[in-house]
Amino acid sequence: MKSLVLAGGSGTRLRPITHTSAKQLVPVGNKPVLFYGLEAIAATGITEVGIVVGDTADEIEKAVGDGSQFGIQVTYIRQESPLGLAHAVLIARDFLGDEDFLMYLGDNFIVGGIADVVDEFREDRPDAQVLLTRVPDPSRFGVAELDAAGQVLKLEEKPRQPKSDLALVGVYLFTPAIHRAVRAVKASWRGELEITDAIQWLIDERLRVRSTTITGYWKDTGNVDDMLEANRTVLETLVPGIKGETDDATQIIGRVRIEAGAVVRGSRIVGPAVVGAGTVVIDSYLGPFTSVSENCHIEDSEIEYSIILADSSIRGVHRVEASLVGRSVEVTPAPRVRAAHRLVLGDYSKVQISS
Ligand code: TTP
Repeated sequence: MKSLVLAGGSGTRLRPITHTSAKQLVPVGNKPVLFYGLEAIAATGITEVGIVVGDTADEIEKAVGDGSQFGIQVTYIRQESPLGLAHAVLIARDFLGDEDFLMYLGDNFIVGGIADVVDEFREDRPDAQVLLTRVPDPSRFGVAELDAAGQVLKLEEKPRQPKSDLALVGVYLFTPAIHRAVRAVKASWRGELEITDAIQWLIDERLRVRSTTITGYWKDTGNVDDMLEANRTVLETLVPGIKGETDDATQIIGRVRIEAGAVVRGSRIVGPAVVGAGTVVIDSYLGPFTSVSENCHIEDSEIEYSIILADSSIRGVHRVEASLVGRSVEVTPAPRVRAAHRLVLGDYSKVQISS
């Protein structure tokens, strides 16, 4: 059995972060979200993994390499543009051959692994198997309608009137039957070849599509709120440890990890929180559920429930909350007396200003 990981896409919901980098590499608990997926795949015993990449191919290849750090062998498959999840299967045909495969969306975050589901699939071998989870707002997701035995009767992408509260999780198990399906379906109104349509095609052909409803934590980290929540979940189980340098004027409370090479002075850090290697924190407060990546500079600031990516600096800002700050960002206070705000913002930025 092989695995196909989808790490292309356009990431419109995470702009402006995705203008310059891959959403699958945004860290939760200071580890790229994609790495949790690759670890979960490795734990199923699958070693041959194809990663579908798009515009951010270089960055993904640099981070994942040949996969040996995860105990897998990676083949990169270039998708010229994000034409849909079923399109990704279509272009991976040569890599997949005639083997069964596990398809994993690279921005999905699942606690508890997928080894049991993969074992179930290997034993029972339906034509396809999907993972479902109960959600309060099904119209944001692909939604499944099941029969009494848990077999899938119908799938609908973002339905206005959902027939159930069972949303598709970004993990699928396929036999080679899916290859006929992805060739048969037509692009949807949004111009994409939808995997839900391909699975529906299997159902219409009277093939057996089985479902497993998971109860563990799952998040599609496609937007900022979901990313922050996945970060919170990871930090709740953080292994604490102070490997960096701290001084007597620093107070550390609760589950906190300070990586080797980090320096914390005159600060109060209330966990769960993580401070990356090479980061300097001076005269600041870092509150619960905050991940600060490597080589950042935080001075005279307060940050809570946020993710700060590498090489960024935040100075003199009281306070930052529920924020996702990209790489090499500088945040400083605006001068006190001002006639107008002076802004240099990328396309699609979202900024809140009190005036
Ligand atoms: P989505 O989050 O459904 O799509 P997207 O990345 O285009 O994001 P947005 O909706 O914010 O514009 O994609 C799920 C995963 O699959 C994600 O890791 C990106 C990947 N993907 C591909 O590799 N190829 C594709 O054609 C698409 C649509 C997604």
